[in-house]
Amino acid sequence: MMRLDKYLAERTGMTRSESRKAITKGRVAVNGVVCRKADTQVVEDAAIAVDGAPLAGTYQKYVYIMLNKPEGVVSASRDKRDTTVVDLVAEHFPRRALFPAGRLDKTSTGFVLLTDDGALAHDLLSPAHHVDKQYLVTLDTPLTDAMQAGFAAGVTLADGQTLAPAEVEPAGEDPCVVRVILHQGVYHQIKRMFGVFGAGVNGLHREAIGKVALDPALAPGQWRELTPEELQRLQEQ
Ligand code: URA
Repeated sequence: MMRLDKYLAERTGMTRSESRKAITKGRVAVNGVVCRKADTQVVEDAAIAVDGAPLAGTYQKYVYIMLNKPEGVVSASRDKRDTTVVDLVAEHFPRRALFPAGRLDKTSTGFVLLTDDGALAHDLLSPAHHVDKQYLVTLDTPLTDAMQAGFAAGVTLADGQTLAPAEVEPAGEDPCVVRVILHQGVYHQIKRMFGVFGAGVNGLHREAIGKVALDPALAPGQWRELTPEELQRLQEQ
């Protein structure tokens, strides 16, 4: 249940005051009956019409967006200087308080999940859930056996912090291009892990979050909503 003015604003993109005005003017019907009270409680599947036209689509409690983050964009909701991942989609979701569920560095690219579902974001980021993240990483030096063994055992960072075991393997012919799977999320984790072995990271692209892969049809900066199946896979992790 939700107030009619809030519900109408979320469904249509109207502001809360536009929606209140439309209601008090008698333009809005709930289940076929004109309703002039903005604080009327409505159920999510109520049949709402404005000026006689039923609202398009269905009510979505939360939104879930798969974004291919381009380089130079920051993983935040708002920033004074830089374009944020939320800025890239904001005009399409004017009434939603979106945020990135997990961060990528400004120089990194790839899959960022934007949502307003705090509970799902918490689960995806919580150490207890261990949702894997997969990255394609370009190093400034070839992958070595020592790196692979170190990642498998759990790298101890320069600050003494020992990380959970992670996986790293060549991604193809080029020995500098590797695929990394992390089971935890620590600030600048991949760069710091390779740094322990004297290797620098020239490129870092997130390919998957848990069992959901970034859609290869999305060019940098492009996005789409998750399919119901993708959302289910994330919720089941
Ligand atoms: N590890 C990093 O160092 N950077 C990222 O953006 C993600 C993982």
